[in-house]
Amino acid sequence: TTVEWEAESYDMGGHDTYMHKEIAEQPEAVDRVLRGRIDDRFATVRLGGLNLDARAARGVRRVKILGCGSAYHAGLIGAQMIEELARIPADAEPASEFRYRNAVVDPDTLYIATSQSGETYDTLAAVQELKRKGAMVLGVVNVVGSAIARETDGGVYVHAGPEVCVVSTKCFTNTAVAFALLALHLGRIRDLSVADGKRIIEGLRRLPEQIGEILREEDRIAKLAAELAESRSMMFVGRVRGFPVAKEASLKLKEVSYIHAEAYPASELKHGPLALVEPAVPTVAIMPTDELLEKNRATLEEIKARSGRILAVAHEEQPKADSTIVVPRNEPELDPVLMGIPLQLLAYHTALALGRDIDKPRNLAKSVTVE
Ligand code: AGP
Repeated sequence: TTVEWEAESYDMGGHDTYMHKEIAEQPEAVDRVLRGRIDDRFATVRLGGLNLDARAARGVRRVKILGCGSAYHAGLIGAQMIEELARIPADAEPASEFRYRNAVVDPDTLYIATSQSGETYDTLAAVQELKRKGAMVLGVVNVVGSAIARETDGGVYVHAGPEVCVVSTKCFTNTAVAFALLALHLGRIRDLSVADGKRIIEGLRRLPEQIGEILREEDRIAKLAAELAESRSMMFVGRVRGFPVAKEASLKLKEVSYIHAEAYPASELKHGPLALVEPAVPTVAIMPTDELLEKNRATLEEIKARSGRILAVAHEEQPKADSTIVVPRNEPELDPVLMGIPLQLLAYHTALALGRDIDKPRNLAKSVTVE
């Protein structure tokens, strides 16, 4: 089956590129993934297509998320959310690795395949291998009726709408939010309290407005991007919740600007990558105001001591950084959703400054349907 998106969705709507349009659409897209799913009475969410009853959900002992590229990065965020909110051990792995390593398939593990297109061959092959071995596999997928949506036992649609630009933006954000819904749902079936359920729901409801606030900072982010466009390479660092954001931001920058970038856990810098730090290699540090802020500030000092330039993405101005993009505060579990947004704009404006083919970067295809 192929699914037709409505024709007006392909209209550029006054934007010069689909990437810009898709970044700008995120407040509405996030509103869409939430719509009709919140259950205030039980402080949870209703996920119609999940096909996982409460008893089965209680029996899950481990969660393994599989995807490629940005979908894998959204899966890393999802795994942390599931572990934090549902207290189920969870991790994410590139589907392309998983399918080749003869992984142990465990009946008490819930496998989740995530994909924008629902057609990525490596992710589909992982699903088929898991199904063949009798595993329970859910999908967190954007394209309704796609191959992965059809072959999984149930799942959560991401409802980002059509994403045309090769570089994923709104679908990445919506996938992270879809994982937050799933984590909340699993949490409330297990040990997450009503108070925490309500706290997350209120946080989810604030997201569209807060994304709008970040988007209004575009002019300033464009100026920072124009300075960074000169860089030979860039480092992206974060700790725990900040690390998947760093990985995604680094991929975004590479794909669309062709500037080399690396993402590292901030704690790993001193184990090697610090050797790269110098004025021509700036660092972007993702550092929410949480229990790790002081550790992240110490990392900034290490970078400054090597005369590295620093752009911080934080909840408050960071005096040790050369510049800070301040994002609004939400519930800590949802920080990765908001902290990723300014870095999409940063990648976009860096590519624009360098005159790149933004919607169709060289060597890349929107969905990789071959091995
Ligand atoms: C994202 O910007 C990429 N172009 C790419 O990594 C993509 O996320 C990956 O190929 C997976 O695609 P999918 O979500 O359609 O499965």
